[in-house]
Amino acid sequence: MSVAERVNRQWVLARRPQGQVRLEDFARRDASVPVADLAAGEVLVRMMMFGFDPAQRGWMDDRPSYMPPMAIGESVRGSAAARVVASTNPAYPEGALVRGLFSWQEYAVVARAGEAAPVLIPEGVTPEEALGVLGGASLTAWVGLKTVGRLGADDTVLISGAAGAVGSLAVQIAHLNGARVIGIAGGPEKCRWLVEDYGADAAIDYRHEDVAARLAALAPDGIDLFFDNVGGETLEAGIAHIARFGRIVLCGAISGYNDAEPVAGPRNLARLIAQRAEMRGFILLDHLDQVPAARAALETWLRDGQLRYRTDVQQGFEAIPATFLRLFSSASQGKQLLRIE
Ligand SMILES: NC(=O)c1ccc[n+]([C@@H]2O[C@H](COP(=O)([O-])OP(=O)(O)OC[C@H]3O[C@@H](n4cnc5c(N)ncnc54)[C@H](OP(=O)(O)O)[C@@H]3O)[C@@H](O)[C@H]2O)c1
Repeated sequence: MSVAERVNRQWVLARRPQGQVRLEDFARRDASVPVADLAAGEVLVRMMMFGFDPAQRGWMDDRPSYMPPMAIGESVRGSAAARVVASTNPAYPEGALVRGLFSWQEYAVVARAGEAAPVLIPEGVTPEEALGVLGGASLTAWVGLKTVGRLGADDTVLISGAAGAVGSLAVQIAHLNGARVIGIAGGPEKCRWLVEDYGADAAIDYRHEDVAARLAALAPDGIDLFFDNVGGETLEAGIAHIARFGRIVLCGAISGYNDAEPVAGPRNLARLIAQRAEMRGFILLDHLDQVPAARAALETWLRDGQLRYRTDVQQGFEAIPATFLRLFSSASQGKQLLRIE
């Protein structure tokens, strides 16, 4: 069967989620493969693997953000690794592997004028590595800790969401830079990974332990750098234990992404005044100049066997929405990916 005769399977946003995202918020559609629409410079790709990011939940809401909201009825925006199946662009020859911010469909026309260009996946790098350990989550951890957080070797560093894609790299980057690292994650198994695999000095299980009490015991002199992926009560606990002149880097706030109403708080912001501490949010896209150095360092550590990572690879196009929902419980076991059959 030629490419043009194939069906282009899609998952579209059927409606805006109200609070908790549900399977019913998505719908399956079949479209034709857009091969005839290829203009000069454009490329037709076939998706091989999708990567899932909590930020996709925010893009489903109709509110101002650093990216426009997704449109109802369009295939859901998400990162993927794909193979070039037809090309009018010599930079992307047929057969090449690329990654980029695409959408939940089997085929797509990419490299369109005015859109972010796909990135070629170098020879020897698998789609799993390109979307996982060498992908955006790892670069986010690097930029957040080093550029925004000004990580120092003498720092006591606290990382929440520490067993996830960003968090597990943040733990290792802080550890490999000589810092003392405390990680927060859900459940004893993930806490075991933090200490035994990723090099954390201590782990706190937020599901079963009193985070504030454990922080007081583990860091009596306070936290110098807090890299927060979670927000809510976790952020409050970090603020309560911030050291004098400490830095709080706001990377994410996943505990509130499915809240129907904006959450109040944190209630203890005045603690930042007393401690002369600073708190700053960041988005990776503003720090793309740091990416070559970050990627080079991560590749070196990976080659030298100093970097550990976990991917949680689900299977099959039909399972895409269910796989996305795994991010918002403790189900995902590392960077959440899905391979198309
Ligand atoms: N600023 C940026 O440029 C940027 C870029 C990428 C990602 N991010 C942010 O970084 C954070 C982590 O992203 P990721 O890709 O690494 O995802 P991830 O951590 O791999 O996946 C989600 C994990 O978050 C934890 N979680 C889910 N709901 C939670 C809740 N209510 N309270 C506490 N933990 C909860 C779960 O781990 P447990 O089992 O430990 O609960 C879950 O496995 C997200 O907030 C994301 O939005 C920011």
